[in-house]
This record gives sequence, structure tokens and C-alpha cells, in this order.
Amino acid sequence: MSDAEELRRMYGTPIYRYDAAELRAAAAGLREAVPDYVRAFYSVKANPHPEVIRVLRDAGCRAEVSSPGELAAALQAGHRAPDCLYSGPGKTPEEIRNAVGCGVRRFSTESLTDLERVLAAGRAAGVDLDCLIRVNASSGTADTGIRMTGRPSQFGFDLGRTEHWAPAALELAGDRLCGLHFFPVSNARDEDGLAAEMEGSIATAVRLRDDYGMPLRWLDLGGGFAAPYAEPGHRPVYPKLRSRLDEALRRELDVEGPDAAVIVVESGRYLTATAGSLLTSVLDVKHSRGRTFVVADAGVNHLGGMSGLQRIMPLAARPDDGNAASATLVGPLCTPLDVLARDAPLGASAPGDLLTIPNVGAYGLSASLLAFLSRDLPAEVVVDGDRVTHASRQTMRRTRIEPAGATGDEDPREIARRLVPVLAEHARRVDAEAVFPVESVLALRRSGLMGLLVPRCYGGLGGDLRTLAEVTSTLAGGCCSTAMIFAMHCQQTDAVVRFANAALRARLLPRIAAGDHYLASITSERETGGHLLTSAEPLRHEGEALLVVRDAPVVTGGAHADGFLITMRASPEAPPSAVTLIHADRADLEISTGGSWDPLGMRGTHSAGLKLRGTVRADQVVGAPGAFRDVAVDSFMPVGHIGWAAAWLGTARHALAELVGVLRSPRRPSSVDLTSDLVAERLARARMALETVSAYLGQVIDEVSEHRGRASGLEVPAVQIHLDTLKVLAAEGAFEAVNRCVQLAGLGLGYLKGSPLGLERALRDLRSASLNYADDRLLKAIGTLQLADRSVNLIDHQGRSAIAWPDD
Ligand SMILES: Cc1ncc(COP(=O)(O)O)c(C=O)c1O
Repeated sequence: MSDAEELRRMYGTPIYRYDAAELRAAAAGLREAVPDYVRAFYSVKANPHPEVIRVLRDAGCRAEVSSPGELAAALQAGHRAPDCLYSGPGKTPEEIRNAVGCGVRRFSTESLTDLERVLAAGRAAGVDLDCLIRVNASSGTADTGIRMTGRPSQFGFDLGRTEHWAPAALELAGDRLCGLHFFPVSNARDEDGLAAEMEGSIATAVRLRDDYGMPLRWLDLGGGFAAPYAEPGHRPVYPKLRSRLDEALRRELDVEGPDAAVIVVESGRYLTATAGSLLTSVLDVKHSRGRTFVVADAGVNHLGGMSGLQRIMPLAARPDDGNAASATLVGPLCTPLDVLARDAPLGASAPGDLLTIPNVGAYGLSASLLAFLSRDLPAEVVVDGDRVTHASRQTMRRTRIEPAGATGDEDPREIARRLVPVLAEHARRVDAEAVFPVESVLALRRSGLMGLLVPRCYGGLGGDLRTLAEVTSTLAGGCCSTAMIFAMHCQQTDAVVRFANAALRARLLPRIAAGDHYLASITSERETGGHLLTSAEPLRHEGEALLVVRDAPVVTGGAHADGFLITMRASPEAPPSAVTLIHADRADLEISTGGSWDPLGMRGTHSAGLKLRGTVRADQVVGAPGAFRDVAVDSFMPVGHIGWAAAWLGTARHALAELVGVLRSPRRPSSVDLTSDLVAERLARARMALETVSAYLGQVIDEVSEHRGRASGLEVPAVQIHLDTLKVLAAEGAFEAVNRCVQLAGLGLGYLKGSPLGLERALRDLRSASLNYADDRLLKAIGTLQLADRSVNLIDHQGRSAIAWPDD
């Protein structure tokens, strides 16, 4: 199966073939070369293929990443974000925020500006980040083709100017500085030279600690481990490095005690180069003015970008027996620069021959001129033993972008404002016919807003709860049903972001961000009704898979969703309160829609019943099995209540604004006397109801965000009371405000269906608010929780309940 000819028959050339066993052997080789207590990091830049990263992760290598794309690949491969090291000289504030949002907690910084940006992102997110200082030291002697520092360089803080940056860095970062990072050379075959580089880094680190008080809780010695590139050969062995490093480290640092420094090495090429080869077919053999040209189907678009266009690799695609005539190996691109090798022993080649270029697993495909000549990228095949474990091809796609400030960097609130007329255009018909707002949701999908809560590393907008509330209330000004659909999709997304495992997140979140996966919620059940935290129908195992069966009486948008989060009893033996949350793709389910949908309001949510059945992969469980309660408390309830409150508030605010517009225009009904006390009082009461909801919404958002920032759970009686109060207050306040508007506007403007203001629709929509997760249930919860919150921890003006109220 892994034989080159067979791979060519299966996938067609060119093919990058990666050998998992060789990746594991390289990881073992690296571990062997350094003391056991040293942590190995894989530098994803060498080869960002997620399966390559995954194999190395399983072999004990953490991930060192330098871009949102590399971080996404590492997360997709199953790395935990807090275990990753984020490095690189040109990090943007946005990518740092994004990385922090994804859970990264350790950064290598390359300048004071870079350090400040990282610290600011940590402060903004309310999390503690660890910062390394990358040092450009001048000790290097190793004989290597690639010297990163030890000379004028964009990398690191210059050792010669330590007095300029060290005190400033310490003052800026204080405890957030955790150590130093060195990466002086790359590709050092000479063991003595490499060992001397690392010994030099250790000595420099110790000097910086002793002279300036630089912390050394972490010491990243970088790498420099060599590997052959596009020529036959083996990884070098470094038999003496381990003991030399051990000796140098122990002399200066505590490396094994409870307060031991964390010592790190990084490698890209050593770990991956020898695992990859490029299979390419000869398309043509030509003779021109005394030279033979072998034309292959892979060129510098697939290999060799890193070696620069003038530097031709010492490539050997076939063993040289000394007799073969020499030829120039070229690719298929229309440029004289597309030369893979000069004077390669390929003179006897014929069209159809299969050539294998060895040792190109590092800086191969991703370091090439991929877009040049617009050809397809090669297949990439991972082979483990004689099995192909992964085969895929990357594609390049053009997507429309707008100038900064239009979309791209456009504020999600602006995007929402642009969409309001689209939603409004369909709102009346959607309501009249009680149909799902297909066009409006399509506009949301295309706008990127469906990925509002998806972190940027998965392609989303990386929005927070305040943005969610603002976007939702803006959208509600166009169509309350669409805003509710949106808010509930975001609620589901939040649960995936916070509780799904890495593999599921990697599969789902990019699709959500792209607007391809609208997620609906299935928590209602014929047997248990609308009770969120219990479920009757049990999950059953079917071999490796899970069998999902459900009869749900109310599913918002069920007929149109691309996937569902479904609450199920954890197993046939489990009590109804042991609930597991499962993600199911629509494609994996047989679905029949049941019942009609002809309600008073919220007619566009099309919340008819669904019966479904299907099997899903075991890793589709969101959160721990049987522990849906955690997801509900930390995600469903806060995001749901905030999103719903925002939708209702937005609907009512829009209604009041429209009414005031008419009252101030010549269209004002003659029956309304603006100088009358009664009219003023009605306006005042409507306004005050909305003010209260708006202020309370802001406070609850602050409170939830603060708890999330501190990673403290929300299962605190006072916080639960505030969340439930928000939902009840919003349902009552928004309805009350619109009810007063209807009274003020009178029969013609307020009550009749055809009225241009749409007040009667808003009134019907908002009537549902107190039934949508029934207020009665929440009032009971608030009252019961009040008994547990003896000191009556009221929410304070900063949205915190942390005021120390006296114990009565
Ligand atoms: C900071 C850092 N870490 C790791 C690497 C990976 O180097 P190599 O692939 O030679 O191991 C590089 C290479 O440029 C680097 O700059």
C-alpha cells in the first residue's frame, strides 16, 4: 500500500508521502539527544500538516507555533492551547488576542513592543500570560548554513544592549516574565558546534539572571538539530550532546527539584525532514543544444521555495550509479527558474518514470511557491507501516474581501447594522406565513456573523458576550425571529468552543465560521417537556458509535439547521439527571418533522417538532459524558439568557424608536396630544422599562465575563439569580414597553396588522418571551436560590456581586 507505484496509482502524482514511523523515530532520536528532563517542542513551521503534528504530539512533542494558521493546525492535531508556545517576530495585536482567546498562555517575545502587546492582550482577557524574552546573543561558533541570531537580526533582544531592555522588560512584565529563549542556529550537523551554542546560551541566561534578575523558570535553548534536504542521507546523531547539556545545566540551574526550571528544545527539520518524500512523474524528456531536460510534474511550486530561486538543491531523485548521464530536472512551470536540479543523474529517464525526491518532509510543500502558475497542490499521504492513514490535498480558494473597515476588519456591530434592512424586508412575510427566514439566515451565513463567537484561530470573528448582545439586539430591530435564531445558534457555538474536545472543535468551528454549519438546540423532549437538565431517552453504544434517538416537540429552526446539540440521558442505566450533550450532523440523522407551527408570535423561528435517529462518532460528546449540567451552567444558561434578553430588548427598543419617529412627524395620529401628561407618562414608562433591562443586561455581561476571565465557574447562587433575573426582567420589560407603545399608537398605528410600524407583530413576538424557557420556572429557581444566598449578594454597578455585604 505504501509502495510508491501503488500510491501513484491511487492518488496520482505529485504526492508528498509522510512516514509516521520515521516521524516517531525522529522524535525518539531527539529525546535521546537531550537529557530526559528537557521538553521537546515541534516547530510547526517545518511542516504544518495536522497529521504530522498529531503523530509527533503522540510521540511526546509539544507545539511551537508562529501564526494563527499554525495554531489552528496544532489545535486540530489535538494539542491543548495552554501547552503551546507562541513565538515569532511580527505578531499582530489581533493574532495575540486570538491566540489568548484560544487558550494560549505562553509567548516568546522579540522586542519591548511585542512584550507590551502580549501583556496588553493578557490584561484585556483577564488572564495571566507567561512571557519569554528571546535573546540575540553573540556567542555562536557552530558551522551552519543558517544563523538566526549572533549578528544583526530581526530576532530577539540584542545582548549588547541589555541595559536598555532588561530593566524595562522587568518593570513592564514583573512576574509575567518567566524566562529566556534562544535560537541561535538552524541545521547544525557539527555536534561540538551545536553543544557549544547551547552551552553559550546557558551561560548567557545565567549572566542575565545574575546581573539583571531575569527569571529562569523557563529556559528555551532553541534547537539547530540538522537533517538532510532533498538529497539522500540520514538524520545526524548527537551522542555527546546529552551529557554536555546535562552537565552545563546542572552546574547552573535546578533541573529536577520541585522548583526546577523548565528546559526546552525546539526542532522542525530534524523531526520531519527524513519522514517526507516527494513522488513526481516524468512528463517529458527533451534535448536542447546538447543538454537533456527531464520535465517532471512537480516544480518549484511544490518544492524548494525555501532554498530561493537561484539556489538549486543538490537533489537526487534516483540513486547515482556513476554511469547515468546527467540531465537538468525541471518542473512544469513556464519559467526558466523552475529547475529542481542541475546535473542530476537522470539522463536515461523516459516519460512515465516515477522519481522520488527524498528527505523533504521539512520546509517542503508549505515552504514552496504554491500559487505560482495556479496548479493544483500535490496530494499529501501519511503512511504508517503498510497502511495509508491519511490522504488529502490542500486547495487554494479565492474569497472576496473588503477594504479594512468594510468587512474583514469590520466591526460585527456594523455588519449587523448593514443586515437590518435585509431582515426587515423578509420579516413581515416570515411572520404572515410562519416560515423560517431562509433569506435572512442566508445573509447571516454570508456575512460571517454566524461565526461571531468562534475564535479567530478557527476563522471566526472572535466576538465576546457584549458583542453578541449588541449584534443580537441590532438584528432584532429587523426581525425578532431571526435575532432569536441567531442568538440560539451562538449559544450552541459557545458550548462547542468551551466544551467540545479538540478534534470536534477542529471539525466544527471552521464550518461554523464559514457560515456552513447552522447549529440548533434540541433540549425539549416529548416525555420530559422543556426541562433543560433532564432527559429520558438514553444514548446507546452501537460498536464504536453512539445511537441518537429523539422525539422533540419544539426545535427552533430544526428543519433548516445543519447540525444539532442534543441532550440525551447518559446511558440506559443512568438517571434522567445524568445528561450527555451530543453533537450530530444533519447528514448523520434520519429526520422527520412532526407537527405544525402556527403560534401567536415568533412565527419565523419555525420551532416545530422533530423526530430523529442516527449514529454519531463517540468523540461527538460535548463536555463530559453525563455532565451536561456543567455546559448548561457555564454556557447554555448565560449565553442563552444574554442572547434572548438582547433580542427582546432590541425588538422593543426598535419599536419605541419607530413610534417616537412617527410621533415627531406629520404622520402623528391626531388623537395623540404630545403635551398631555398621559402620553408623557406612557413614553416614560416604556423608556424606563427598557433602561432597566439594558442596564441589567450590561451588568450581567460584565459579571459573566469577569467569572469567565478568572476561569471561576458560574455555579454561584448570586450569579445564577442574576442570570435568571435578567431573563425574567427582559421578558417582562420588553413586553411592557411595546404594550405601552401599542396603547400610545392606538388602533390604526399600533394594533392593526397592516400598520407600517409593525407594533402588533412585536407585541405578539414579545408575548412569547415569558414562555420561552418559562418565567415561572425561573421565578421558582430565583426564590429557591435566594434561600441559599443569605447575604443577598446584589449585583453591583460594575456587574460584580463581590461586594462584601454584611452578614445579617
Ligand atoms: C524560533 C525558532 N524555532 C524553531 C525553528 C525551527 O528550526 P529547525 O527546523 O531548523 O529545527 C526556527 C527556524 O527558523 C526558529 O526560528
